Amino acid sequence: MKASRTANTPDHQPRPSAPEAKLWTPQYPELSTKPLSTEPYLSPQWFERDKELIFRKVWLHMGRAEELVNPGDFAVKELPLFNTSILLVRGKDHVIRGFHNVCRHRGNRVVELRQGNQPTCKFTCRFHGFTYDSEGKLVGLPEESKFLGLDKAEHGLTPIATDVWEGFVFINMDPEPKETLKEYMCGYVEQLKGLPFDQLPVCYSYETDINCNWRILRDSQLEMYHIKTLHKLSVPDYIENLRDPDSHTHHVELGKRHGMASWFLNPEIAMRPVEALALQADRTKIINGPLERASGSWSTETPLYQPPLVNPTRTKDWFLDYIFIFPNFHLLPFEGLYITHHMWPVAPGRSHWEARIYLPRAKNASQVFAREYSRIQAREVWLEDGSTLEHMQQALESGVLKEYLLQDQEILIRHANRVCEDYLRRVL
Ligand code: FES
Ligand SMILES: [Fe+2]
Repeated sequence: MKASRTANTPDHQPRPSAPEAKLWTPQYPELSTKPLSTEPYLSPQWFERDKELIFRKVWLHMGRAEELVNPGDFAVKELPLFNTSILLVRGKDHVIRGFHNVCRHRGNRVVELRQGNQPTCKFTCRFHGFTYDSEGKLVGLPEESKFLGLDKAEHGLTPIATDVWEGFVFINMDPEPKETLKEYMCGYVEQLKGLPFDQLPVCYSYETDINCNWRILRDSQLEMYHIKTLHKLSVPDYIENLRDPDSHTHHVELGKRHGMASWFLNPEIAMRPVEALALQADRTKIINGPLERASGSWSTETPLYQPPLVNPTRTKDWFLDYIFIFPNFHLLPFEGLYITHHMWPVAPGRSHWEARIYLPRAKNASQVFAREYSRIQAREVWLEDGSTLEHMQQALESGVLKEYLLQDQEILIRHANRVCEDYLRRVL
C-alpha cells in the first residue's frame, strides 16, 4: 500500500533525509551540539521538578485496551512516583475510565487484585463494604442511616482523566488537563493512523526496578550507537548501514514534544543457525519480518501498511522506527511486530522499566517456536541494555562525570532533554 508524507503539522518539521543530509543536529539549531549537563540526571531538586511539572501534567500511557475488553473488566496500575494506585475499568457503556483506587470512606484500596472482571460492574471495598459502580459512583454502604448528612452523590471515587488512542490507554494526573490526548499527541494521531495494533494481540512483558535515574533509563533506548558494541553477542549487525558504517539513522523528525527516528536494516545479517530456523518456522511475513527481509525472501507484493510516520522515507533498508512519545512512552513499529517501553521515575536514583513485545497469535507449533525466538531475543537485548544503567548512576553519584558527550545520532537524547527543559521553564 502506498502512502505519502502528510503536510507539515505544527509539531513536525520534516528535514532533508539521508543520504543528502548526513548530520541531523545542525538541522535543529535549537539543540546545542555541546556536551550535555548531567545535573538533571542526578539532582533531587530536578527530580521533584520532573515529577511535578512534567509527570503530573502530561498524558501518561498506562496499558492496552485489550486488558479491558468486556464491561466489568478492570486493571489496577501502581504509580509509585505519586505513591498511588490507579483503577482502570471498562463500564457497561464500554467506556474505559480511571480512578484513584482509594475508598472514600477511610482510604482502603477498593480493588486489591491486579486484573479481573466484575460481572456486576460493582466494586466493594472489603474494609467496611462501600460499593462503587463502574462510573465511580458510590452506590451502597452498610448502615447508611448512621452516616449523618452523607450525600452519596458527592462521594464517589476520585476520577482521573482517561482517554484511549489506538487501544493505548492514557491517564493524566492533572485534575484539569490543559489539552486533550489528541491535542497532546501533536499530529501523531493522524500520522500513525492505520498501524495494525489490533492484529498483534499477544503481549510478552518484562518489568524491573533499576537503581538509576529515569533519564538514564530513558536514554538507554533512544539511540542505536551502542548496537555494535553492547549488543555484540545478540544483534551486532542488525542496524548496520553497509553504504556508510558510521550512519545507522536514516531519518529523524523532531517536534515540539515528541520525536522519531528511522533505522537501517542490514540486508546481509550474518544469521545464526537458530535464527534461520526461527525464520523457517514462520514465513507468514508477520513474525521475524526483519530476518526474512534480511534473508532476501521478503515479498514486497503485500507489505504491511505503513502510515506517514512509519518509515517516512519509504526506504527498502528500513528496519524499525523509534517513536518517542514524551515523556516516557517509547513505541517501536517493526515489520510485523511492535515493541513498547515505559520508563517510570520512582525516586531520584530509582526507576521502573517495563518492556513489551506485541506479536500476532500463533496458528501452529512452528509459529509458537518463532514467536518464542523473537521473545527471547528481545529479552536478551534488554538484559544487555539494563546491564549498564546502575554503573552510569554510580558514575553520576561519584561526582566524576559532569557532562555527557553526545554524537549526532544520539539526537533523540538531546531532544528529549530539550522538551523536559521546555516543560520546566513552563514554555509547554
Ligand atoms: S475504607 Fe473502604 S469501606 Fe471503609
Ligand atoms: Fe540496546
